[in-house]
Amino acid sequence: MALLLRGSSASQREWAAALIRSGKPVALPTETVYGLAGRAFDAESLAQIFRIKARPFFDPLIVHVHPDFDLSLVASRITKSEKQLIDNFWPGPLSLLLPRNQKFIPDLCTSGSSDVAVRAPANPIFQDVLLRVGEPLAAPSANLFGRISPVEHGPVIEDLGPKGLEAIVDGGPTQWGLESSIVRVDEENHIVNLLRPGALPVERILEVLGSDWSVKSSLLGNVGRNTAEQVPGQLDSHYAPFKRSLVVFESSLNWNLLESTAQKWFDRDRVRELSKVEITENCLIFDVGFSKEHYLDLPPLDTICLTQVHSDIEAASKLFMKLRELDEREDSYGTLIFSVLPPPSGGGLWPAIRDRLLRASINKGKPL
Ligand code: TXA
Ligand code: MG
Repeated sequence: MALLLRGSSASQREWAAALIRSGKPVALPTETVYGLAGRAFDAESLAQIFRIKARPFFDPLIVHVHPDFDLSLVASRITKSEKQLIDNFWPGPLSLLLPRNQKFIPDLCTSGSSDVAVRAPANPIFQDVLLRVGEPLAAPSANLFGRISPVEHGPVIEDLGPKGLEAIVDGGPTQWGLESSIVRVDEENHIVNLLRPGALPVERILEVLGSDWSVKSSLLGNVGRNTAEQVPGQLDSHYAPFKRSLVVFESSLNWNLLESTAQKWFDRDRVRELSKVEITENCLIFDVGFSKEHYLDLPPLDTICLTQVHSDIEAASKLFMKLRELDEREDSYGTLIFSVLPPPSGGGLWPAIRDRLLRASINKGKPL
């Protein structure tokens, strides 16, 4: 069983660092989600990360640095605009794709790509372990491949304990509850390629770079989706609860839409018509903050609500925990969950919430 270390104890952080130095990955808190951290310069440590996570080798790892580290050991070149973003947003939830320093970063880390994703996490426990190890750490989210990213220590132990994880450092619930935003900066054309929307809203990046810059994005369900810029490993299918099925809707949710979807879905298993009562008993609304104006004429369905006050920050911080809880509920909501998506144009953290819901749903990339 994985050893549970306390992030508040210096000696236990040192223990974590010693394990990492000896080639054994340890789960650590970041300000986004928990990560499974191992030495980025050491192919053997990287292989352990892939093994514990049951992660395919085509899915590259983000390298985490301390702000005081020499970035040239990780990236071979940094442009003026990338430097601007680093100065403004590090430490924090921004991962930049930079040309890899092939001397130190093994192929395994980037799945063979000549670019490496890099970020400097803001969580003080992670930063302290970085300093103690004295080297950059590769750290994917500390969940089994394809599962929901962990925002507290319990799910990490559940997912990775049986897979040989040696230790996890507990730092309480993470601040953002969503992974970092991943971008590639095209200095020449003044374009920010948004490869994964995350905890740093893209409009904040544009504020720094200036009004002559624009964003291209590979968000699921977006018109003009830039699939050429999709990152490896950003699979359409991700984050799905095991036992239940999530159906996502683009705008409003009314009884007719819900009934026809439920009939279609349940019939597949049960080959019979369901009454209104049966449907309401077997369906659940997953309300990420768009209920009041978007659920029209519905009977009183059971609802999980992430935010009563339409706060993207509150919704993001509860999203992954609530998605995981869906698997743990011992009630009759056997199968269907309905959620209205935030609009693609929503600012702040809404695009990231939209992206994660689409990946978790059964109608991936194609909201009804
Ligand atoms: O907030 C985060 O970014 C968290 C915490 C632990 O830092 N980490 C995280 O890592 O979300 P992970 O492995 O679950 O997701 C990283 C994704 C990969 O799936 C891949 O899509 C992209 O980042 N990525 C990493 N390195 C890349 C590379 N060299 N080129 C393209 N995409 C890359
Ligand atoms: Mg992940």
